[in-house]
Amino acid sequence: MELNYKEKLKQIFSGKNIKAYVHSFGCQLNVSDGEKIKGILKETGCSFTDKPEDAGIIIFNTCAVRESAEERVFGIIGSMKKLKAENPDLIIGVSGCMTAQEKNLERIKKSYPQVDIVLGTSAISSLPRLIYEHLESNKLEYDISEYADFSCNAEQVRESSFKASVPIMFGCNNFCTYCIVPYVRGRERSRASADIISEVTQLVNQGYKEIMLLGQNVNSYGKDLENDLTFPELLRKINEIEGDFIIRFMSSHPKDAKKELLDAILECEKVAKHLHLPVQSGSNSILKAMNRNYTVEKYLETVDYLRSRDSGFSLTTDIIVGFPNETDEEFQDTVKLIKQVEYDNIYSFIYSKRSGTKASMIEDSTPEEVKSHRLRELLEVQKEISDRHYRRFIGKTMRVLADGKSKKREGFLTGKSNEFIIAEFTGDESLIGQFVNIKVTDSMNWAVTGKII
Ligand code: 5AD
Ligand code: SF4
Repeated sequence: MELNYKEKLKQIFSGKNIKAYVHSFGCQLNVSDGEKIKGILKETGCSFTDKPEDAGIIIFNTCAVRESAEERVFGIIGSMKKLKAENPDLIIGVSGCMTAQEKNLERIKKSYPQVDIVLGTSAISSLPRLIYEHLESNKLEYDISEYADFSCNAEQVRESSFKASVPIMFGCNNFCTYCIVPYVRGRERSRASADIISEVTQLVNQGYKEIMLLGQNVNSYGKDLENDLTFPELLRKINEIEGDFIIRFMSSHPKDAKKELLDAILECEKVAKHLHLPVQSGSNSILKAMNRNYTVEKYLETVDYLRSRDSGFSLTTDIIVGFPNETDEEFQDTVKLIKQVEYDNIYSFIYSKRSGTKASMIEDSTPEEVKSHRLRELLEVQKEISDRHYRRFIGKTMRVLADGKSKKREGFLTGKSNEFIIAEFTGDESLIGQFVNIKVTDSMNWAVTGKII
């Protein structure tokens, strides 16, 4: 059915040299959806541009995790009014997590007449139909239905020729009380392992060097499937695929980070020796209010197990400061935790109230300045930890996937080490997309510097 619309559009677009601009916000799963949207548009005969003013089709693939991201998107869509006035044939679409909320759809209908298409997270394959219907009706067309969009097996038009993300599951069942994801992405649905393994094999054969497995909570992979693999089993199977590549994955929920998973990470030579394990808070009372289902003590057991088998094992985390009514003492427990764990890096956010979530119902008495102050304090503490912690690599050899020219230092290449540390080194641009071994000569609080050996 949808294929017919692709063919129809291909005929309509034929000879018109339509360029599409697709801008994804937010997490890597959303970026991966954006790559699928590009795949579908490519099949209708579009090429791509990174300048909205050159585009015949513009898609904003949005994120709803924090309010600031939503407001930014509305600001950008607002600014498209001018382009639409100059080119009435321009088609503007909004996709991604923001579309799953009725209030956003209403706001678009009411205040953003320049938007022609709204495409829900589970309706990506409806894109050709919506464009076609819009061309017929010249009205806003939308599909925000919640059916699982596994039929969307469009090939991703990938940004990189050596790093590929592969979604392994969609949605989340956890309902952390602050989080909008379960409401906008629905329940967990895992892809069959055979499909994932065949996609990764194909990517490795095409020369991809980094495979990033994606899911909101990868540790629950397979729980909704009958007779399929668990996540640690999937990791081991992907590790057996022949070729020189590195396997990464995100994100893991600490409540499900069991020994089987940790052993798979430690024992599979292609799996990166790094775990992103979002802790969110170092206070048990806040973790309880967040519905995280683990305690600080349990979390530390996981850290201790990894570090007992590999003393320098790299960890990163996400932290939310200013959860409703977080006390100073509870915040100091988070400071204590990050000092104790010694993360290589933390991604920290001020709590953002998301309507529809449980936490949004809590009356919050903490002033915004207190929350900003806590964020600054946390970042200061982490800066000092990263600074000290990165020195452990000086004098050591690191394997790095070179991924581009450094934006901070003229003449340097940049890349990520197996441990997910940014490494900067001098070398020829032809090395971009290759693994290189470097000897670390120096370190800063955001990267290490090295020489290719
Ligand atoms: N406010 C602030 N940060 C949030 N995150 C998720 N929901 C919110 C929210 N309402 C953060 C969490 C999560 C990361 C992807 O975004 O730390 O791990
Ligand atoms: Fe949101 Fe929690 Fe699910 Fe992560 S595990 S997507 S924070 S509900």
